[in-house]
Amino acid sequence: MSINVTPDTSAPVGAADPTTVALADGRSIPRVGLGVLRVASDDAAASVRSALEAGYRSIDTAAVYGNEEGVGRGIRESGVDREDVFLTTKVWNTDHGYEETLAAFDKSVTRLGVDHVDLYLVHWPMAHLGRIQDTWRALSEIKRQGRARSIGVSNFLVKHLELLRAEFDEQPVLNQIELHPWMQQHELRAYHQAHAIVTEAWSPLGQGKLLDEPVLAEIGVRHGKSPAQVVLRWHLDLGHVVIPKSSNPDRIRQNLDVLDFTLTEDEHARLAAMNRDHRIGTHPDTPPTNGLPAGH
Ligand code: A2P
Repeated sequence: MSINVTPDTSAPVGAADPTTVALADGRSIPRVGLGVLRVASDDAAASVRSALEAGYRSIDTAAVYGNEEGVGRGIRESGVDREDVFLTTKVWNTDHGYEETLAAFDKSVTRLGVDHVDLYLVHWPMAHLGRIQDTWRALSEIKRQGRARSIGVSNFLVKHLELLRAEFDEQPVLNQIELHPWMQQHELRAYHQAHAIVTEAWSPLGQGKLLDEPVLAEIGVRHGKSPAQVVLRWHLDLGHVVIPKSSNPDRIRQNLDVLDFTLTEDEHARLAAMNRDHRIGTHPDTPPTNGLPAGH
């Protein structure tokens, strides 16, 4: 992985290694990881191997993706030391509650074939169930046992983060949200910054749907980069962690090759102007209960 990168003034303080972002619990997470939503288990094993061979050191899965077994197998087959891989998984919407979440975690690590994960996330707030606090207590317990090194949330709005803030000393170190140039999430990002929560972008490429916007190609030509690489660099310049999904080995490699350039102020202004507050995936207040989420 190239580390020839212009210092990023917007990255969280303490991110001395330009390939990682510091978490509030003292750990750090690679800035680029592989996402595997809608990838079948065997294909996930192949994608994970490709990614680890290409230099990735972070993989993001979830119980509901149905591919934890393949992800774990891919890590083992890659030959990369487990300790060198940052592994994330998530508790699904049907497993909210203290005991339920503890049991769901046991099943996830069994499927993954690991004794710990690096990050365990609450996949969706499921606020209508009123069990966010019970679920969070379970995550804290799993962390206390050392079986999740860090804990966080996904698809939480400010009001959900505030519920945890009102009740717990232990806070999520990261919120994984739908975030791309069409959906720039200004309010949440400001809240994260104020509360030392790392912003992680799911569907950082807008599921590939925004890559035909001409401005991205124009900027890419100047840097010798593709539209997808321009979008990923925009994220990194803003301090986001990204988990682009690809099942194609060339694109997997391409998506990591974003650490050797940076965007100008003018280019950032042009990307900022792409915002439409347009969600491609599910809204956090209408979480899916069965089947895969439209987003992550
Ligand atoms: P593929 O798996 O065939 O590479 P997101 O991570 O925002 O959800 O986007 C994932 C989508 O974007 C997938 O359809 C993926 O297709 C496509 N994609 C991933 N990387 C690239 C890239 N570098 N260039 C073009 N499309 C990409």
